[in-house]
Amino acid sequence: MYVYLVFSMLVGLAQSDPPFCPPCSCKSVEKTKFEVTCNQDVRDKLFQESSWIDSTNKTYPYKTLLVHNMPILTLDKKFPISNVSYLSLANNSIVNISDSIFSNLQDMITLDLSYNNIEQIHPDAFDGQYLLNEFRPLKSLKNLHLDHNRISSLSNDVFEHTPHIEFLTISHNPLDKIDHQTLVAITSLVYLKQLDLSYTGLSSLPDAFLHTPRYLEKLDLSGNQFHRIPETLGDSHNLSDLYFNNNPIVNLTEENGFPKIPTLKILHLSGMRKLLNITSRALSNLENLEELFCYDNPELTHIDKDALSAKRDGAEYETWPPIKKLYLQDNKLSYIDMQLILQWKDLTELDLTNNPWTCECENQWIVDELMPIYLRLDEQKAKRLRCGAPIEMVALTFYDVYKKETTMRCLDLYGHRPERDGALLVGILAGVLITIPVVLFLIYAYQRHWFGLFDNSPAGFSRQFYKKTTSEDGPF
Ligand SMILES: *[C@@H]1O[C@H](CO)[C@@H](O)[C@H](O)[C@H]1NC(C)=O
Ligand SMILES: *[C@@H]1O[C@H](CO)[C@@H](O)[C@H](O)[C@H]1NC(C)=O
Ligand SMILES: *[C@@H]1O[C@H](CO)[C@@H](O)[C@H](O)[C@H]1NC(C)=O
Ligand SMILES: *[C@@H]1O[C@H](CO)[C@@H](O)[C@H](O)[C@H]1NC(C)=O
Ligand SMILES: *[C@@H]1O[C@H](CO)[C@@H](O)[C@H](O)[C@H]1NC(C)=O
Ligand SMILES: *[C@@H]1O[C@H](CO)[C@@H](O)[C@H](O)[C@H]1NC(C)=O
Ligand SMILES: *[C@@H]1O[C@H](CO)[C@@H](O)[C@H](O)[C@H]1NC(C)=O
Repeated sequence: MYVYLVFSMLVGLAQSDPPFCPPCSCKSVEKTKFEVTCNQDVRDKLFQESSWIDSTNKTYPYKTLLVHNMPILTLDKKFPISNVSYLSLANNSIVNISDSIFSNLQDMITLDLSYNNIEQIHPDAFDGQYLLNEFRPLKSLKNLHLDHNRISSLSNDVFEHTPHIEFLTISHNPLDKIDHQTLVAITSLVYLKQLDLSYTGLSSLPDAFLHTPRYLEKLDLSGNQFHRIPETLGDSHNLSDLYFNNNPIVNLTEENGFPKIPTLKILHLSGMRKLLNITSRALSNLENLEELFCYDNPELTHIDKDALSAKRDGAEYETWPPIKKLYLQDNKLSYIDMQLILQWKDLTELDLTNNPWTCECENQWIVDELMPIYLRLDEQKAKRLRCGAPIEMVALTFYDVYKKETTMRCLDLYGHRPERDGALLVGILAGVLITIPVVLFLIYAYQRHWFGLFDNSPAGFSRQFYKKTTSEDGPF
């Protein structure tokens, strides 16, 4: 405060402090505007005309006004005329909002009513002023914070005076479900770009919920009770960021997984306490996904190699989304397939740390292919990949193995050595490939009666040949 006074004298602002300063703290911004923060009780001043309008009938140039921590603020009077653009009334134990109290705040862009005890909002609470072709709008209001209240339902027409809202949060309210009225209310916001429904007890979204908000870009459904990905996400037109953290999905599959959302670029699937398994094609419909945040899922043991890739109708080949950022840290993964994403070298961010990776041959590609890429991308994280198993390797990191240029051992579940199956198959294939032309040759030769020369029967010849290959494969 004093610093400000000295400063303003030095700069020579002839202007006197607005009435809120003191008791509130005020900061001068953009030369003549004030950012006011009140943590004291200003209930007597808040609605007084003289706090807002000076003796010459000019409005005080408040840019932002934050009024917090009042002991029970009753919103039953109109705010005087002001061009304040940001009004926060958070943390004031507000219960009810009387009609039309904000109607003089026609430059207000953001209204923050979070952390109160609001249960219901009457539609005329947001009543504005006459404007041609609109229904008495609060014409500047774009951002509305209603989080951390006690709202279980919104009335149909609660937003009829606030048609230009682009950002709405109802997070941390006991909605439990989106009933018909709430559905009508939210879908009346045609210009909505960001919607936060996190921590509202939801387990489903109504059909076609996302059909109306054409411009919706960001949706937060974290901290809810979803057991499947809501199908209406497929109705969205321009959804690019989805937060789906902390929901109780156990197995994310093709069946309960994502519908087609070609606009989705960023997906958050973290803090999923129960998530075990992301199976084949669970994320395949997100064909343009660029950033996958899937970390801090303490039970997640498996991500299928086909979880992200897709085989589109009629296409001959798999296609992969253009992943640039991949966060898989702090999970319980022991193995990932190299095919999970197409080009590891195209990544700009990668975090695989804090997983119990096995240092066995299934992860050999991490040493051979990924480590050089990872070291270039993020040397610190690359060097922090530890061996979680087998027991004799747990002291090592993948970087140690990489430097020693060793090949990690291969043991399957039964302690067999599955890499020998490969040799067996190659042996059989070679046998077959060699046998066919030989047999054909023998038949040809037999028909031509060439064997008269060798005094040997073709059957005996080929039998000998078969014997040879089978005895080679015998020990396996
Ligand atoms: C102050 O302005 C309002 C309209 O903004 C007007 O109604 C009122 O008469 C004015 N008062 C004085 C003292 O000029
Ligand atoms: C808003 O404040 C500015 C001063 O920063 C003033 O010139 C202008 O008239 C005010 N507008 C309204 C609508 O009160
Ligand atoms: C309101 O109070 C809560 C809890 O004390 C705090 O976490 C939050 O940051 C406060 N919000 C504002 C806007 O002051
Ligand atoms: C809340 O405000 C509305 C007007 O918006 C009024 O009709 C109602 O009686 C108020 N409720 C309480 C409990 O004060
Ligand atoms: C869609 O969203 C992007 C940002 O993700 C934005 O740049 C673009 O303007 C939006 N398009 C429409 C039609 O809303
Ligand atoms: C999840 O998948 C595992 C097998 O991978 C199965 O045992 C379990 O029952 C599944 N759980 C649910 C809830 O689908
Ligand atoms: C994950 O799901 C796949 C496909 O349903 C299954 O084959 C695999 O065993 C599962 N893994 C775990 C660890 O449950």
